[in-house]
Amino acid sequence: MSKIIALAGKGGVGKTTVASLVLRYLSKNGCSPVLAVDADPNSNLGETLGMEVVKTVGDIREDFMKDPQGVPSGMDKIVYLEMLMNQVLMERKEFDLLVMGRQEGQGCYCMVNNILNRFSEELEKNYKYLLVDNEAGMEHLSRRTSGKVDMLILVSDYALRGLRAVGRINEMLGSLKLTVSRVGLVVNRAPAVLGKAFLDEAEKIGVQILCTIPNDDILLEFDMERKSLLDLPDDSPAVIAVDGLMEKILRTIGEK
Ligand SMILES: Nc1ncnc2c1ncn2[C@@H]1O[C@H](COP(=O)(O)OP(=O)(O)OP(=O)(O)O)[C@@H](O)[C@H]1O
Ligand SMILES: [Mg+2]
Repeated sequence: MSKIIALAGKGGVGKTTVASLVLRYLSKNGCSPVLAVDADPNSNLGETLGMEVVKTVGDIREDFMKDPQGVPSGMDKIVYLEMLMNQVLMERKEFDLLVMGRQEGQGCYCMVNNILNRFSEELEKNYKYLLVDNEAGMEHLSRRTSGKVDMLILVSDYALRGLRAVGRINEMLGSLKLTVSRVGLVVNRAPAVLGKAFLDEAEKIGVQILCTIPNDDILLEFDMERKSLLDLPDDSPAVIAVDGLMEKILRTIGEK
């Protein structure tokens, strides 16, 4: 069964950045095949990986709902939807990327959602690792029938507000149809030493700090120039931090 690593946190704290660096680690350390799932409706994981996303699962759903009769004659609609899903899957050497895209609008989407969910759960079985970049509500993960996550990385910036968002997500976990084996906190854009107020708040929330990631000028430059974060040098500070984080995570989930 594939190991599932998921990320969540407040908007703009660096979830997608950390997801890209986790993917960079998995790609470079023989952990393939990996399926990266961009489950944030304002998706930009493809962008940070230097990939041009043309179509999302959400687009397929909308197109199908707009024109349910558009299924080629003689073709079963399940087969048709699966064919479209295969077109959305972006395949690379070390990993594949599936972008979920926008959430559904008005109307009854149950049938098409069921087909798409079933397809993605079947697809996931082909991978050693699944990496899911989520929005804060973690809708995508909680919809899965076999809801389990091996490691949930909660990302916060070095601010109490980011930390409180992490606290809310952590509290919400119990109400989700999801088994989360381990939860850890990553503090992004953190100073070398965390202040007492921040540490106290983190302790109150009760999520263990797995690592801190410093502000990284090289990363920022890559972001500005729209270069793939997969191509960051090994000695870039954020890469060093996430590589260390991954060594730790793989040890805890029994992969090392
Ligand atoms: N450690 C870091 N050093 C420098 N820049 C960073 C760092 N982490 C993130 N950034 C920058 O901060 C911005 C926001 O990061 P990112 O897109 O990863 O956040 P996010 O949590 O995924 O946001 P959203 O909620 O919008 O999806 C990006 O421009 C990114 O390049
Ligand atoms: Mg993001």
